[in-house]
Amino acid sequence: MAEQKPSSLHIESRLSEKRLFKPSKIFSAAARVGSAAAYDKLYKASIKDPEVFFAKQAEELYWHKKWRKVLEWKAPMAKWFIGGKLNASYNCLDRHLDGWRKTKAAIIFEGEYGDERTLTYQQLHHEVCKAANMLTSLGITMGDRVAIYMGMTPELVVAVLACARIGATHSVIFGGFSSEAIRDRVNDAEAKAIITADGTFRRGAVVELKKNVDGALRITASDTLTGCPTVENVIVLKRTGIDVEMVEGRDHWWSELMKEASHNHKAPAIDSEHPLYILYTSGTTGKPKGIVHTTGGYLLGAHLTTKYIFDLRDDDIFWCTADVGWVTGHSYVIYGPLSNGATIMMYEGAPNFPTFDRFWDIIERRKVSVFYTAPTAIRAFIRAGDDHPNKHDLSSLRLLGSVGEPINPEAWMWYHKIIGKGKCPIVDTWWQTETGAIMIAPFPGATPTKPGSATKPFFGIEPQVVSKEGKPVGANDGGYLIVKKPWPWMLRGIYKDPERFEKQYFTEFPGLYFTGDGARQDKDGYFWIMGRVDDVINVSGHRIGTMEVESALVGFSGVAEAAVVGRPDDVKGSALVAFVTMKSGAESSDEIKSKLRNHIASEIGSFAKPDDIHFTDALPKTRSGKIMRRLLRELATTGNVKGDTTTLEDFSVLEKLRTVEDEE
Ligand code: PRX
Repeated sequence: MAEQKPSSLHIESRLSEKRLFKPSKIFSAAARVGSAAAYDKLYKASIKDPEVFFAKQAEELYWHKKWRKVLEWKAPMAKWFIGGKLNASYNCLDRHLDGWRKTKAAIIFEGEYGDERTLTYQQLHHEVCKAANMLTSLGITMGDRVAIYMGMTPELVVAVLACARIGATHSVIFGGFSSEAIRDRVNDAEAKAIITADGTFRRGAVVELKKNVDGALRITASDTLTGCPTVENVIVLKRTGIDVEMVEGRDHWWSELMKEASHNHKAPAIDSEHPLYILYTSGTTGKPKGIVHTTGGYLLGAHLTTKYIFDLRDDDIFWCTADVGWVTGHSYVIYGPLSNGATIMMYEGAPNFPTFDRFWDIIERRKVSVFYTAPTAIRAFIRAGDDHPNKHDLSSLRLLGSVGEPINPEAWMWYHKIIGKGKCPIVDTWWQTETGAIMIAPFPGATPTKPGSATKPFFGIEPQVVSKEGKPVGANDGGYLIVKKPWPWMLRGIYKDPERFEKQYFTEFPGLYFTGDGARQDKDGYFWIMGRVDDVINVSGHRIGTMEVESALVGFSGVAEAAVVGRPDDVKGSALVAFVTMKSGAESSDEIKSKLRNHIASEIGSFAKPDDIHFTDALPKTRSGKIMRRLLRELATTGNVKGDTTTLEDFSVLEKLRTVEDEE
């Protein structure tokens, strides 16, 4: 790749990846989109007239009433399928009951201790109807907000679809969050009820969910008497059997309410723009944002992307390992696969319980065919060693997916070789909580893949890489990733905060959606996501995306994971500091440090050589597995961490890192 001149406008990109993997002839022959030419044709048509294109696609959903207008767009506000009425729960359940699919497995569930359950579409429908009546009996109606704080068991899916069925906007809160985080989210949404469980099994222990909810309800914010004043009812699923406190009149056992509830429920027609859910996502600063998604456009996105990017078939067993507490779980555990009538695998617990081969064991026993996970998990598997997957027959797999972070090319190669045995296409899917569903990803039967690239945009999506001034940059130049036009599954706002919504996404490049990510597009039109622009560091006038340095570090033999941050430097502006985790058994010495520096010099350039390299056993991560560079930055700069750590998964990691700093 040609050297680029340093420029304050662009983010420099030096990594070049030459490997190209074409879809196999067999895969392409059976795929919905079977060639690059077929993709190009469909994509062009979708961009030429997105309204016509999406109106046609929307016919795949069941509408109680057809829309009168496809799109109304006045930046930053979009409305799709105006006047249309549908029901997301009906689309995920009732419409599959007419034919043979009624006896097809909707959910294959495995608890952490190995308990198993399978629910057919008919059974799931039965449960969701009962739960919808249960919610109604507690006075919950269309437009109310309901918080859901449960473990990964089928009742979580039932709760979500029951809310959707009656038009109550759900707000799922990840089961790893603390009482305070629950309280903030419940209060922001003014939720009328909370659905929870006594606990859930995770890594061999019980996570005490109800106790955390009690904590949230009791915490006294300075000027209120109760922690969550809007909550009238709490529904508690008995999952683990641990003792919990039940408050008379407010707390109800799920099983007792369900026993009373009728299984007959007619799904009402709900407005296309009715808020289906709120999902809180933490920004780098400030309080979490309640991202709002609506019924029609969102469901269409989840449906279409599942159908095309995972190329799902009726005999597939689709396993998205994400927790429903994250957007990936909303779109690819629940709404996408179920609206397609697919079978999902659902697992309650941790990937390393009792040992690091749990996922591979499940894939072998359950004959999982499509597997969708995150780079952070892949890197943890790499670290744990190849023996774990190699012990298992993974031949049922036909397609692999990745989401959540840029996947380092070497991690991609490992996934390809060790899990996919060289035969499964990998779909690296770029999207965000805000985008609702996949935006950039390969079509597995059509798009040749390059390790580390999310490749090409989905139908109707027009991403572009631009300079700070909003001008398109040249091929291979790094810049800011924007989306030029509205799409049906885009967020409709930040709950109760229209100003923050506009400022956050539509002000930097007026009228255009700013993703907050840096990216480049290569000469073949492939997108390479370079991470959050906040993670761009200016070293001696070179703007470097930390992700590229990290990928280069991970490409060095023995390195499992790396995080790179900047610290102020009088001479260079910023100096690069790398935190590196080695694979088990690999050497971590001063000699390796100097080899790593030379490796970066040859992969990227001398200017990108880290000034400091720290070896560490673990990196601080959010509960969804993203590396918290903000904390590392603080640590590298001040030697301490004072900032907000509420989303940190494992606090002991910080302690260890402080010690590493002190020792060196
Ligand atoms: O920086 C991008 C990264 O994750 C961000 C979105 O995070 P979240 O809202 O938590 O949603 C995660 C599930 C979609 C993006 O702005 N990201 C996500 N997927 C990729 C990615 N970066 C590179 N490649 C991806 N495939």
